[in-house]
Amino acid sequence: MNRTHMLELNNLNKIFKTRKHEFHALSDVSLTIARGEMVAVMGTSGSGKTTLLNILGCIDHASSGSYLLNQNPVEGQSLRTLAGIRNRDLGFVMQDFALVDHYSVQKNVLLPLEYLKDRKLRKERAAKLPALLEKLHIGQKQREKVMNLSGGQKQRVAIARALINEPEVILADEPTGALDQKTSQEIIELMRSINEEGKTVVIVTHDPNIAAYCDRIVRIEDGRIVEDSAAPSLVQV
Ligand SMILES: Nc1ncnc2c1ncn2[C@@H]1O[C@H](COP(=O)(O)OP(=O)(O)OP(=O)(O)O)[C@@H](O)[C@H]1O
Ligand SMILES: [Mg+2]
Repeated sequence: MNRTHMLELNNLNKIFKTRKHEFHALSDVSLTIARGEMVAVMGTSGSGKTTLLNILGCIDHASSGSYLLNQNPVEGQSLRTLAGIRNRDLGFVMQDFALVDHYSVQKNVLLPLEYLKDRKLRKERAAKLPALLEKLHIGQKQREKVMNLSGGQKQRVAIARALINEPEVILADEPTGALDQKTSQEIIELMRSINEEGKTVVIVTHDPNIAAYCDRIVRIEDGRIVEDSAAPSLVQV
């Protein structure tokens, strides 16, 4: 496998400024994630996990420091370029699924394709929808409205939507936070198999059982990385 740097943060800081206060949400964060790695980001509530993921996802920008995505600098890019990067290179999976409830499964999953300019590519990718839904075990639900699905099924739809544009990187913020234990396990196993097919995956989670599926755990406290280590093996003795 090509172990080039997929995500690289150097001395990153994020300061939220309000009229009276400044809040240092990330302090001097340096982190390199290789292509094909699966990394868990852990830490207590308010430690800066979502802030970090939003910066990795080009949803928010750092106050200082550098971010290279697939070895291309992110800072200084126009909003238009960033929107292109988000759509092409990154797939997002959120705790609350972030789906349009009154749209069908099919319509939700195909939404990211609307931003693709290349019509031929759009058609090619749309043609893969049935196989993608089948693979995620929601093939039977293609025409169902999302509001009629279970939590686990909704998260599968969100994962399909994250994958439809064939991004290199999947970023997930508490993807199992709203699911029961058994469904959580199914979803993390699914994400692991997506990783094994070559995607780089970053998952924010509070759950050590979820983190155990990852190669590596990065722990954040008060906006600083306090631990970066191999995940304990899943194998029970
Ligand atoms: N837009 C904002 N303006 C001001 N402060 C913010 C903003 N967004 C986040 N913060 C602050 O930054 C800190 C980190 O927030 P963040 O959402 O990254 O935490 P988190 O680790 O994801 O927590 P949780 O586990 O509860 O989701 C918090 O103290 C939060 O209040
Ligand atoms: Mg959060």
